[in-house]
Amino acid sequence: MTEEIDFANARHPFLDGRPKRMLIGGRWEAAASGKTFETRNPATGGLLALVPEGEAEDVDRAVAAARAAFEGPWRRMKPDERQALMHKLADLIDAHYDELAWLDTLDMGSPIRHTRGSRRHLVGLMRYFAGQATAIYGQTADTSLNGNMFAATLKEPVGVVGSIIPWNGPLWATVFKVAPVLATGCTLVLKPAEDAPLTPLRFAELALAAGVPPGVINVVTGFGRGAGAALAAHPGVDKISFTGSVGTGQEIVRASAGNLKRLSLELGGKSPHIVFDDADIARAAPAAAIGVFANAGQICSAGTRVFVQRGVYDEVVETMAKVGAGLRVGAGTDPASDIGPLVSPRQLERVLGYVGSARDEGARLVSGGERLGGPAHAAGHFMAPTVFADVRDPMRIAREEIFGPVASVMPFDDLDEVVRRANDSPFGLGAGVWTRDVGRAHSIAKRLQAGSVWVNCYNQMDPSMPFGGVKMSGYGRESGAQQLDEYLNVKGLWIQHD
Ligand code: NAI
Ligand code: MG
Repeated sequence: MTEEIDFANARHPFLDGRPKRMLIGGRWEAAASGKTFETRNPATGGLLALVPEGEAEDVDRAVAAARAAFEGPWRRMKPDERQALMHKLADLIDAHYDELAWLDTLDMGSPIRHTRGSRRHLVGLMRYFAGQATAIYGQTADTSLNGNMFAATLKEPVGVVGSIIPWNGPLWATVFKVAPVLATGCTLVLKPAEDAPLTPLRFAELALAAGVPPGVINVVTGFGRGAGAALAAHPGVDKISFTGSVGTGQEIVRASAGNLKRLSLELGGKSPHIVFDDADIARAAPAAAIGVFANAGQICSAGTRVFVQRGVYDEVVETMAKVGAGLRVGAGTDPASDIGPLVSPRQLERVLGYVGSARDEGARLVSGGERLGGPAHAAGHFMAPTVFADVRDPMRIAREEIFGPVASVMPFDDLDEVVRRANDSPFGLGAGVWTRDVGRAHSIAKRLQAGSVWVNCYNQMDPSMPFGGVKMSGYGRESGAQQLDEYLNVKGLWIQHD
C-alpha cells in the first residue's frame, strides 16, 4: 500500500475520487439525507474527498447498532479474546502506519515527519490497553456488619460510548478513543472533526479487517452542530469522551443533562513553560520554542506562556526567535517541512486576530507575526512562527488559547511569583519547568496546577502515563494505568451467607 502513495503529487490510495461512506453497524453508508461535505488539504486548498454529512437520524442508527452490539455476542466475548483482537488491530495499525500518517498529513496539514513520528506511541498504546483487557479487577471488602457477608465490587463496561474528536491529531485521537472501548467491552460511536474526517474512516476499515464485530465501532461523519450535538444529547449514549475546545465542552456538559451521561473532557490549555536562570539554556530555549511551534501550535498542551527568569530573559527570547525563524514552514507532504499550515482559513484568521490584539495591547513582536505568501505558501493557510516578548499577564494572548504558532514570553523574578502567575489561568493542562535544582523541581511540580508537569523536558507522553487536565482544561484522564475506570461502572455486590 505504501508504494502506491504518490508523495510528490500528494496522492493516496484511500482518495480514489469516490464519495466516502461512514460505518454504521458494520456497513458503509451514505448519510440518510444524502448530503455530503468537502474535506480539503490545508496546504493547497485542494479537494480531497466528499464525506457524508451525518445528522441526528444517522446518529440514531449508529447508536442503535452500538447498543445491539453491546448486548450481543461482544458482551460475552472473553477478555483474552478482546485482547487478541486488539493486538491484531495494533498489527494492522503498524503495517499501515505510513498510509495512516499520510492521510493525517493530507487532511489536516501536519508535516509527514511529525505524523510518522507517533508510530511507536500509538501502536504501543493499543498494545498497552490490550494488556489491560485481561487486568480488570474488582475488590473484596471486609465489612463491619453482623453475620457472614461477602462484599465485593465488580467492574462492568459503561455501555455505549460517544467519542467526539478534534482535527489536530485525527489518528492520535482515534487510537486514544478506540483502545479503552475495546479493552473494557464497551461499544463506540465516533464523530470525527469535519476538518479531518479521513483517517478515522480508514482506521475503521482496519478495525473491521482485524475482526472487530459489526456495531462495536461506528463512525458518523458530520458537523458539530449536526452529528456532534445529536450524539452529545442522545439518550441511548451512556458516556461521552470529548477532546476539543472549552466552549464545545461546555455545550456537551449541558447536552449530557438529559440522561446524565458520564463525561470525560480533554479541553484546551494555556500551559506555562518556565525557564529558571540556572537551567541548561542551550536545551531549554529551543525546547520552549518547539513547545509552542510544534504542529503549528495546534496542540492542546502547547507551552504558550513562556516565563523566563530575568537574568536569562533576553537570551531565551532571542534563541526562541532564532529557532522559530529557522523552522521550515511548508506543505506537510514535503519531508523537509518542520511546520505545516493551519488547518483552515478560519483558524488562520483566528490566529492572526490574536496577533493583532497583541500588537494593540503593546506586546513586542520579535519575529514572525504574519501569514506566509509567496509561491510555496499562497494556496495554503501558512503562518510564520511568532514570538511576542514583554507580554503582560492580562493581555488576551496570555490568557486565551490561540491554537497557532504564537509564543507569549514574559520575564519573572522569583519562584513564588512565577507559581502564582502560572496558576493564574482558567486552564490547567500541562506545565514545563527548566532548572538544575532538584529541590526546586520537586517543590514547583507540586505547586503547579496542571494535569502534567514536565521538568527539563516538554510534552512527553507514554502509554503508561495519564494525560488530562484540571480546572477548565477538563476532567478525566486518557492513557495510563487508571484510565479504564472511566469506561467502567463499579457495582457493589453483597451476598449474605449465614
Ligand atoms: P471544537 O471544539 O468546536 O471541535 C471539536 C469537535 O467537536 C469536532 O468534532 C466538532 O465537530 C465537535 N463539535 C462542535 N460543536 C459541537 C457541539 N455543539 N456538540 C457536539 N460536538 C460538537 O473546535 P474547533 O471549532 O475545531 O476549533 C476551535 C478552537 O478550539 C481552536 O482554535 C482551539 O483553540 C480549540 N481546540 C482545542 C483542541 C484541543 O485539543 N484542546 C482541539 C481542537 C480545537
Ligand atoms: Mg481536511
